[in-house]
Amino acid sequence: MPLFYNALEAGAHRLSIVPPMFDYFGALGLHALVAAARMGVFDALGERPSTAGELAAALNLDPHATGVLLRSLAGLGYLRSRGGRYRLTRTARSWFTTDSPTSLVAGLEFWERTACVIWPRVEKAVRDGAPGTPFYTLLESDPELSRSFQAWTGALARRQAPAVARVVPVPRGAARVLDVGGGHGWFGMELLRRHPGLRATVIDLPRALEAAADHPRLTLRPGSFLDDDLGAGYDVVLLFNVLHGLDDREAATLLARLAAALGPGGTIVVGDQFGDSLMPGRASRALLRLLDLNYLVAAGGRVREFGEVSGLLRAAGFGRPRHRRPLRSAAMELAISRLM
Ligand SMILES: C[S@@+](CC[C@H](N)C(=O)[O-])C[C@H]1O[C@@H](n2cnc3c(N)ncnc32)[C@H](O)[C@@H]1O
Repeated sequence: MPLFYNALEAGAHRLSIVPPMFDYFGALGLHALVAAARMGVFDALGERPSTAGELAAALNLDPHATGVLLRSLAGLGYLRSRGGRYRLTRTARSWFTTDSPTSLVAGLEFWERTACVIWPRVEKAVRDGAPGTPFYTLLESDPELSRSFQAWTGALARRQAPAVARVVPVPRGAARVLDVGGGHGWFGMELLRRHPGLRATVIDLPRALEAAADHPRLTLRPGSFLDDDLGAGYDVVLLFNVLHGLDDREAATLLARLAAALGPGGTIVVGDQFGDSLMPGRASRALLRLLDLNYLVAAGGRVREFGEVSGLLRAAGFGRPRHRRPLRSAAMELAISRLM
């Protein structure tokens, strides 16, 4: 929520005069946000600033309750009101209207399901050191959760892909790229757009590929990257946002399989969040720590430091990786390494 303490509030928190209510209210704010997006509140206000009554009539909602919801969304920083008429803030317009090029609406439900279905297992995960049902097993048996997860990761990827593709080293004459756990296929698609001679293969679990991108030079290969045939002779392998979902043993197995699937001198590009990154502020670092806990609770995975990723790569036969942080890719950094 785009909400910042004023000096008085910050002082009250620092001196612990007030309890840390936003830990609880943040969860409530998530539900208000998702419900508003699902009912079309942001899209409607994006088209026409309205009073609560006008919006309720347009969306067939209860007028009083609509006013209560709008006031809480305004409090959270998503709306502004003047003379009883509500309009979107820049945050809401960019991220929560369906037609915005940076829209996250399609994937918002994923976070609602994460809060309701996955995070109640945090205590068990911390007691046992692992989740009861691993995330990707859950996705294969829950089409709605899978759809919202792919929508979320796809929306982030669409935004990041151009900047990321610019720094992925595709050697002259390279013919084949493998996008491992590539799901929606957006990263592979962006490489195909930049390199007309290239063909891309995405390997992912069957359900993840149901809504994958479509392109004549893109092959979808349903299967497990841990057990199934990956093919061979690739020039470049992309491994984006996959390592954090694996424990060290699985990560080592996968990297060894990818080394075998690459042709001589081939390149692997690992994209992930690195725990020792110089994140710009305390709030960003707090997010990274929560993400680490999220990977533990959901998948038994973890955020690794760049040095740990480097160690895993070298053990699998790759050279010392280079670290890149593409612009407009706040959520993903790269470790780029060649097969020795
Ligand atoms: C966090 S998503 C990342 C998607 C995409 N690479 C990106 O960065 O946006 C992880 C992907 O790995 C896939 N995945 C997880 N376990 C897998 C397995 N054993 N075999 C194949 N794909 C798997 C998931 O289905 C999912 O699409």
